[in-house]
Amino acid sequence: MPNTIERMCPNASATRELGRTLGSVVDAKQVLLIRGGLGAGKTTFVQGLAEGLGCTDEPTSPTFNLVHVYAGGRLPLVHLDLYRLGSEGEVLESGYASHFESGAVIAIEWPERLGALTPTHHIAVCIEPIGKSGRHITLEAIGGQVLPHAVWPAQ
Ligand SMILES: Nc1ncnc2c1ncn2[C@@H]1O[C@H](COP(=O)(O)OP(=O)(O)OP(=O)(O)O)[C@@H](O)[C@H]1O
Ligand SMILES: [Mg+2]
Repeated sequence: MPNTIERMCPNASATRELGRTLGSVVDAKQVLLIRGGLGAGKTTFVQGLAEGLGCTDEPTSPTFNLVHVYAGGRLPLVHLDLYRLGSEGEVLESGYASHFESGAVIAIEWPERLGALTPTHHIAVCIEPIGKSGRHITLEAIGGQVLPHAVWPAQ
């Protein structure tokens, strides 16, 4: 069972598709930490995740809110975008801890901002641009998690 897989996603639809595949099988309380520079495709991946979970609303880049909750699917999806986070205290005020007890799937953009609040068990998603619209995406299970079979490369 691999704990790391790598995918080349040549366009935004492929990135979204990978998110959708993960969303269709992801377990309750799974935390996804999504890293990548500005415009790397983190929200695009989360949109796929929401679609795979069957959530009714489409995730967008939050403007003022740190957190959005998307319902209507197999599990709720909590989407945090910490780009504008001022301090770790601010993320706690946003109800951060309560999301972990809610049974939701949690997807976090800019998780570098979490510092000491970084969950030990998570799936790390790292998105690196390759050329104009290619993205090299690595999924890594951290802390004893297992990557779902659905995202393993075809044999
Ligand atoms: N292979 C690709 N995967 C993902 N997005 C791509 C790809 N190729 C082009 N794009 C485009 O790049 C943009 C990525 O925007 P998106 O909002 O998903 O990035 P982000 O990492 O969330 O940005 P931010 O750092 O502002 O939160 C979109 O316009 C998307 O269509
Ligand atoms: Mg984004």
